[in-house]
This record gives sequence, structure tokens and C-alpha cells, in this order.
Amino acid sequence: MLNDFLQMKGVTKQQLQALLDSAFEMKRRILSADKFSDELKGKMIATMFYENSTRTRTSFEDACKYLGATVASLDVATSSVQKGESLVDTAKTIEAMGTDAIVIRHSVSGAPKLVADSVDIPVINAGDGLHAHPTQALLDLFTIAEHFGKVEGLTVAIIGDIKHSRVARSNMESLTTMGAKVKIFAPPTMLPIGAERMKCTVCRTIEEAFIGTDAVLGLRIQLERQQTGLFPSYGEYSAFFGINDSRMKLANKGAIVMHPGPVNRGVELAYDVLDKDYCVKDVQVANGVATRMALLKAILGGKQ
Ligand code: CP
Repeated sequence: MLNDFLQMKGVTKQQLQALLDSAFEMKRRILSADKFSDELKGKMIATMFYENSTRTRTSFEDACKYLGATVASLDVATSSVQKGESLVDTAKTIEAMGTDAIVIRHSVSGAPKLVADSVDIPVINAGDGLHAHPTQALLDLFTIAEHFGKVEGLTVAIIGDIKHSRVARSNMESLTTMGAKVKIFAPPTMLPIGAERMKCTVCRTIEEAFIGTDAVLGLRIQLERQQTGLFPSYGEYSAFFGINDSRMKLANKGAIVMHPGPVNRGVELAYDVLDKDYCVKDVQVANGVATRMALLKAILGGKQ
């Protein structure tokens, strides 16, 4: 049984495989006529989103409802956070109400760990600063496993704003744990210092990123986490670093394009990619519900 789920680092291949197996079952259930169960009946899950979200927050809420759990969403903008209540005090307050687990997103790296160290209930990281977005990586892993029937031996290229991307960091961990090869390509201003020591190969040209690749994962430009001036214009970014149909022709036959969303249309992903069957960004969104159901069940359901 999992307790907290704060990062992909340290999650074993066996644990990831168990979550994938469970997520396949959850997806079958979602697609059936009978998608509601009472497996987590009686459980109360709180979401605390200190940063904006559409996909992660909604899919956690859907996952709770499909499993029969009750969900309470803290509205940070109208909560006592605005009166100066600290993160830890807020989390302890939520815990004191009988909550069984907390799902938290925060702009500060390490905030979910701080909460996990302060409460006695499981904490799930829904994205913290530049650090980790483990449930996004889980749904990305599931999407690759579902599409190709395997993860081991595949090559995944992550392209874009690596420096500011918690999605990239979490994906490097989970993909390599499951036996995939990861390549990265970024504008020099968006490549972290020490990138060559990460669990990936650093590509020197964009062509290198596409050649021999099975899945191309584009990253959103994290405007909210950047200083300005990291690239001259959206047009220039798209021309030199964008994922487009002609570049996809360099990739392996049957290669897919992924993106965690939200997409800056025409920037990270060209318009001629967005309408292609090989662009699976909406499949990723759907898989976010099944994988978060699997995770909640693993944490609160009594067995892994
Ligand atoms: N991918 C992702 O985390 O999307 P949201 O910000 O909409 O949750």
C-alpha cells in the first residue's frame, strides 16, 4: 500500500507496474456503462490547489466520485489563507475535519513534502513548483503503455522548457524506471545547468530529438515561472523548437505526440500536429482519471 505520493523518484518498477495494471482496469470501468463503484465509500479527500488547474483538479475530483469517495475542494482565493493562515496550519485544519487524504498543488517546490511531514494522513502531490508532477508522469506512462503495449525499449523525446518543467523531471524518473530511453531538447536558455547529469540524453539539434523516437512529449512554455527574455518571440520558438508534422516524419513509424496541457497552440505544437491522430493529448486527459483512480485506490483502498 502506498502512503504519500510526492515524487516519482524512489517509486519502484513494481509499484509503477501495479498502478498501471490497476489503471487499465479503471479505464475499462470508465468506458463501461457502470463506472461508479463504492470502493472508497466513506473516504473524504480534500483538494488544496494553490495554483490554477483544469485537468489535474477535475480528474482527481472525478476519480473520487467514480470510486464513491467524497471530495472537498479548498477554494484558496476565498479561504483563510487570504487572512494569512499558513500552509501547515491550513493542512492541519483540513486534517482535523476527518479528511482521509490531501491532494495539493503549490507554486513552491517542496510544499507537499512540508504538508506530508506535518499531517498524519496521505498527501498526494498534484504539482509543486519546478520539482515534480508525479500524477502527470503516471498518466503519461499509462498513455505510452496503452498505445504501444509496452514501455521498455521505447525512446521518448521531451522537447521544450525543461528548466521550468516539473513534468519533465517526473517523466524522466518514471520512464527510465520502466526501461524507456529519454532524450531532451531545449532552447539553451531553458536547459537546466547539469542537464547532462539527469536521467536522459541531451540532444544538440532538434532533428536528433526526433530521429529514432517513439513518443515526442512537448512541454508548455512556463510563462509564470520564467524571467522574460528566454526566447525572442513565439514565432521564433515555434520555428526552432516547435513540434510540427514535417519534424514528426523524422520520428519512428507510428510515433505519437504528447503534451501535458494546456497547449499554447501554434507554439509548442504546430497547428498541423494538433489535428493529427498521432497527437494523443486528449487521450492523456482521459487517462488522467483512470490513473488517479488507481492511485487513490492504492493509497486508500487497503491494498496496493
Ligand atoms: N497538465 C496539467 O497539470 O494541467 P492542469 O494545470 O490543467 O492541471
